[in-house]
Amino acid sequence: MKDKYGRNIDYLRVSLTDRCNLRCIYCMPKEGVNLLRHEDVLRFNEVIKIVKAFSYLGIKKVRYTGGEPLILKGIEELIFETRKISSIKDISITTNGLLLYELADDLKNAGLNRVNISLDTLKPDRYKEITRGGEINKVFKAIEKALKIGLAPLKLNVVLVKGINDDEIKDFIYLTKEFPIEIRFIELMPIGEGKEYFKRGYIKSQDILEEFPELKPIDHNNKIADMYKINGGRGAVGFISPLSCKFCETCNRMRLTSIGTIKPCLHSQEEISIKEFMYDEEQLIRVIRAAVINKPLEHLLNSDGISKSKRQMYQIGG
Ligand code: 5AD
Ligand code: SF4
Repeated sequence: MKDKYGRNIDYLRVSLTDRCNLRCIYCMPKEGVNLLRHEDVLRFNEVIKIVKAFSYLGIKKVRYTGGEPLILKGIEELIFETRKISSIKDISITTNGLLLYELADDLKNAGLNRVNISLDTLKPDRYKEITRGGEINKVFKAIEKALKIGLAPLKLNVVLVKGINDDEIKDFIYLTKEFPIEIRFIELMPIGEGKEYFKRGYIKSQDILEEFPELKPIDHNNKIADMYKINGGRGAVGFISPLSCKFCETCNRMRLTSIGTIKPCLHSQEEISIKEFMYDEEQLIRVIRAAVINKPLEHLLNSDGISKSKRQMYQIGG
């Protein structure tokens, strides 16, 4: 359905948990976080009820995210139940990939279409530092597996931070020569732990494009990424630039948090609780419809530099 600014809202992102098996430096504090209580988090049958309600209003694509969604037991059943909703045409997961190798077949068989894997470096030691302990070989194995079984198109999300991984931009770009994957460089956002890194480490997408003239723009229908290719490349390189080139105008998404609130905009403080309507489908649809219609026009991150979100990225998901 359309919001009041005429944007066609057909994409729902669902954060299933705020828990994660990593502690990336720009995302979670070292000492850990105040986690939500289990009883406050939506159960899978509740998630399905809400996704169904959204599907009646025109949502066609669903992405499950976290924290880390693959730490949840029975995630493949959630995918299976989502697949049964006939108007949902595309089901994807954002994951750090650590548990994907083991789960990939079951997820694919349950109806998962594709995955986005967060990977900010290709170097084992650096991966350990950025994620505070992660084992990169597990992610490499997961990538190989995803390619092999056709969880496609496979996208790798790379958040760039000056002085941390900007010396690997070229390596990431040239991965797309050999492999049919999409590398997506994501501008670091000043939210949560990211605020400190943002001050000294923000890199504008445009600066990378100027440095790599071999990246040629390609036609695409991606609403939020600008897409490029290198000569002869099997994959593609995308730039997601929420700050330097915000995409609010074509934003097609709504978000559901793991405690049952709708977030119409990533960086707005606005949240609409729908947990209390869970068992009354008509009312649920009514509340969701109102939330979609009133989706904020835009975020003001690039003018006032602060996310108004009440939640951190590990509670909203990428
Ligand atoms: N800016 C941009 N992306 C972020 N993520 C976490 N924190 C930030 C931030 N401050 C991304 C992670 C992952 C997803 C869950 O969110 O890299 O891809
Ligand atoms: Fe859409 Fe909000 Fe993101 Fe802007 S900030 S692109 S309106 S979700």
